[in-house]
Amino acid sequence: MPQVIDGKVISACIKEELKERVAVLKETRGMSVCLAVIQVGKDPASTVYVGNKKKACAYIGIDSLSYELPVETTQEELMRLIEELNHKEEVNGILVQLPLPDHIDENAVIRSIDPKKDVDGFHPQNVGALCIGQPGFVSCTPAGIIELLKRSGIEIAGKECVIIGRSNIVGKPMALLLLRENGTVTVTHSRTRNLKEVTRRADILVAAVGRPKMITREYVKEGAVVIDVGIHRNEAGKLCGDVDYEDVAPVCGAITPVPGGVGPMTIAMLMYNCVEAGIAGKVPGTDRKGNCL
Ligand code: GUN
Repeated sequence: MPQVIDGKVISACIKEELKERVAVLKETRGMSVCLAVIQVGKDPASTVYVGNKKKACAYIGIDSLSYELPVETTQEELMRLIEELNHKEEVNGILVQLPLPDHIDENAVIRSIDPKKDVDGFHPQNVGALCIGQPGFVSCTPAGIIELLKRSGIEIAGKECVIIGRSNIVGKPMALLLLRENGTVTVTHSRTRNLKEVTRRADILVAAVGRPKMITREYVKEGAVVIDVGIHRNEAGKLCGDVDYEDVAPVCGAITPVPGGVGPMTIAMLMYNCVEAGIAGKVPGTDRKGNCL
């Protein structure tokens, strides 16, 4: 059977490291870290995610400010709040939970966040920095996947890495991060021909398709590392990923489970970005280097 990559254990480890760093910053420099979390509307999944982010902040010792705005909030109102938070010195990170209601232009909102406080790593300036190997915030899910691989002793350099999905939040930054680690990277998508042939070349396969259990063993080379970004709930309330775990596990070399794989890493890396935002430029030698941990 494969190595099961345990995101719960690895994310707990990262959170302990961050808790210690935050405590030291408080004790030695009187510094605190603060994240502003904005949710517009009451999408139930977003409410759960936002709640988990605030809980993680409390655990690590990061202050959080919560803004729960009504669904009819206008784009101007939202952007005015962001502008205010951009100028608040005590706020180090700003997170606007996505998706936003249809009447709000998500890209315009992301652009209005000060890139130095963009702990999601969604601002074009941070995405551009990642693209040309300069310091900046990196999107949390792909950054978490790199940590999962590194902390599981999986070498990336020289490996064939295939990503299924080209979203701005996962697929594209994932490709850039794997490239930064000297992987040979292929990004596949809905128009890719002979998808199975391409994915079967992968030493490291990242599935971010958004379709439950789509990736069966025919897509996977024997011994490959399989990273499952998907999370879906069936009628019975049971969670599953984009990968058919039972079918793939016997043939692959390592695999992330759902739940307990990639999911917990996203929040751990958000916390990491918050701490980096808190110390950037304030503690000598601790500017953001563009490398994780
Ligand atoms: N919605 C789903 N994932 C994310 C995320 O990583 N950040 C934000 N802000 N919204 C999301």
